[in-house]
Amino acid sequence: MLTGFQFSRARPGTRKAMLDVLCRHLPMVRLRVSLAAAFALAVAACTGDIVDPEGDPLEAAMRAFDTNVSPTLQTKCASCHTSTENPQFMRPDPTLRDGILSFNMGGLVNLMDPVSSRLAVFTSSQAHGMVGVNYTPAEAAQVTAWIELEALAGGIVPEPVVETAKITPIVGANEVDLTTIGLTGSKLTFDFQPLATGMYLSRIQVNASTGGVRLVHPLFVVWDAQAPIPDPIDRFSDIDLTVAELTTSQVGGGTAVFVDIPPQGQLSLHFKTATFANGMPPSDGGGITGGGCKAVPLFTSAARPQLGTCAGTCHAGTNAAARAATDMSKLADDLLQPDACAQILSRVSKLNPDQSSIIVSVDPAVTNVHPYYKVPAAQFANFRAQMLMWINAEAAP
Ligand code: HEC
Repeated sequence: MLTGFQFSRARPGTRKAMLDVLCRHLPMVRLRVSLAAAFALAVAACTGDIVDPEGDPLEAAMRAFDTNVSPTLQTKCASCHTSTENPQFMRPDPTLRDGILSFNMGGLVNLMDPVSSRLAVFTSSQAHGMVGVNYTPAEAAQVTAWIELEALAGGIVPEPVVETAKITPIVGANEVDLTTIGLTGSKLTFDFQPLATGMYLSRIQVNASTGGVRLVHPLFVVWDAQAPIPDPIDRFSDIDLTVAELTTSQVGGGTAVFVDIPPQGQLSLHFKTATFANGMPPSDGGGITGGGCKAVPLFTSAARPQLGTCAGTCHAGTNAAARAATDMSKLADDLLQPDACAQILSRVSKLNPDQSSIIVSVDPAVTNVHPYYKVPAAQFANFRAQMLMWINAEAAP
């Protein structure tokens, strides 16, 4: 596998970017692509595969759709999306593939940023799961891979991604060396706990070496053998994090819960960009860009009372490590509720409220994470309901 950063430095531009995308997805789509004869050689170099030199990107996209996307749509989605009152994006127009691409003026696919396509992301959200049937993360990955090929076929040059080497996470502390993407000596660290059908990552931090680092849009990719499964809800898309040299900073809220993926899978990280700090000031609050809470009164009435014990016993300051992990120091202050809310907002998943770490970490049924404290079993349903009331208000469009 290429490490994008070094390669993009060596060969900037279109071909490199295309090649990156091809290389990342070759194992999955087995595409028959050659954008030029020269490409075939390089593509072969990234996997050892020989790629059909007669193929073309459009053909590859169509094949990926037919092979990897259409069957799932037919079995899981057609009953609701062909001719019912739900959005009818599966009505052929004239083909199924064309209909999906043009539905709602292209609103289901984002050719400029395939991983954020509504077809994949909304169908990985709890809101859709409650009314329909969701994709598994692996199925969502197939959709994203197909849309990347559509983008290539449409002549869109994907932005090069920077990709770390894969690691096999171990229970407890883990480290992803950023040296391989050109940031010598810097590390991304996290604690890992396997869940029954997923992964719980906490204390996700960047430890910056000489020169500091600036990381934009980190994306966790879980590997099911050779198949990459990007985080289907792309939860760190709003991160632009600068860390000063020789300091450590949390990444966003510092936690991530991935479900329905192989708990023993390998992990890699993609970044939209990963550079030295280059004089950028260090970020506050894990580098989350844009917006604080919009439902502060509900935070105060519903969520705050639930968090009193957490704040009082550890997170408001009594325990430095606990406060560093999740800061609840503003919770008790009536005048600082917007700040208190923002501190917790980074621990929620708006797309999958049930998977918010503020809920999962203290769920007495999830025994192997956050061993310090669990909400007593008899109170957990109420805790969860109150927290969800607030989180759903934050998540509302
Ligand atoms: C049991 C019925 C049902 C099934 C099965 C179902 N959905 Fe849905 N889907 C819905 C409903 C209802 C909505 C409208 C939800 C809303 O607007 O909030 C929806 C909305 C969507 C949307 C948003 C469309 C838009 O333009 O806003 C997408 C995308 C989608 N579904 C994809 C899928 C996919 C892909 C599958 C199969 C993996 C699937 N759905 C299976 C019921 C279903």
